[in-house]
Amino acid sequence: MTPQIIHFDSLPSTNSEAARQALAGAAEGLCIVAAEQTAGRGRLERRWVSPKNAGLYCSVLLRPAFEQSGWTLVPLMAAIAVHEALQRACDVVGDIKWPNDILIAGKKVCGILAETVETPSGRALVLGIGINLNNDAFPAELATATSIEAETGTKPNSELILHELLGGITRHYAQLSDAGGKNEIVSEWCARSSYCNNKHVRVTEGCKSFTGTTRGIEPDGALRVETETGEMRIVRAADVSTLRSQD
Ligand code: BTN
Repeated sequence: MTPQIIHFDSLPSTNSEAARQALAGAAEGLCIVAAEQTAGRGRLERRWVSPKNAGLYCSVLLRPAFEQSGWTLVPLMAAIAVHEALQRACDVVGDIKWPNDILIAGKKVCGILAETVETPSGRALVLGIGINLNNDAFPAELATATSIEAETGTKPNSELILHELLGGITRHYAQLSDAGGKNEIVSEWCARSSYCNNKHVRVTEGCKSFTGTTRGIEPDGALRVETETGEMRIVRAADVSTLRSQD
C-alpha cells in the first residue's frame, strides 16, 4: 500500500469522502484527512463528535487482494498500527479494547470504523480512524473518553502521528497477505491488549448482555469469552466493557 494523503478543511465524514472516491476509482492507499467533520460516524450507528483541530480524523482506502475471510482482521490490524503510532509519536503506551478501541489509563482515546464499499473495480474497505488530540474532541460529560494531550500533558504533533500511523498500516496490512501473517496479527494484537485473556467483561449485543472472562482471539479476530457456567461464547459484533469487582 502506498499512502496518498489528501487534506480537507471540513467534511461531513472522511469515511464518506473516501467511499465516494473509491466509487470513482481511487487507488488503495488514499488517505482522506479533515480538520473537522460535521457528521462524523462511529461504530454501531453512533455519532463521532469531531470539532476543528481537536482530533485526528482520517480514512484510509484499502482494496485487499487476500480472501474475504481475512478481512475481519483488518480492524484489529489497524488497532495495532494506532497503538504503535501513539507509542512512537507521543511516547504513550495505550491498551486495545476488543475489537479496536484504543484506551489510555482505561479511557477511550481512539475509535476505528471499518466499512466495506462495493465499487466498479471490486469490494473495497474504508478504515476510518479518529484520535482525540485534546479534550475538545469529545463531550465534557463523557467520563469514559480522554485525549493524548490530557494524558501526556503535551500538545501532540498530529502530522507525526499520521506519518507513524500510515507507516504502521502499510507494514501490518502487508502482513495480512503473507503466509502466517494472520496469526502474527492475532498474536501482536494480544501482546498489546489487556482484553485478550483473563479479563472479566460484560458483553452487550443489542439489548442482551452477559458476563464472562476473555479467553483469547479466534483466527478471524472474534473474542472468546467463557461464561460463569463454563460455556465458551464467540463474540463477533458487540460492545465489551470491563467489569469492576463489585459488578
Ligand atoms: C468508534 O465508534 O469507536 C469508531 C469511531 C470512528 C471515527 C472516525 S473519525 C474518521 C472517520 N470518519 C468517520 O466518520 N468516522 C471515522
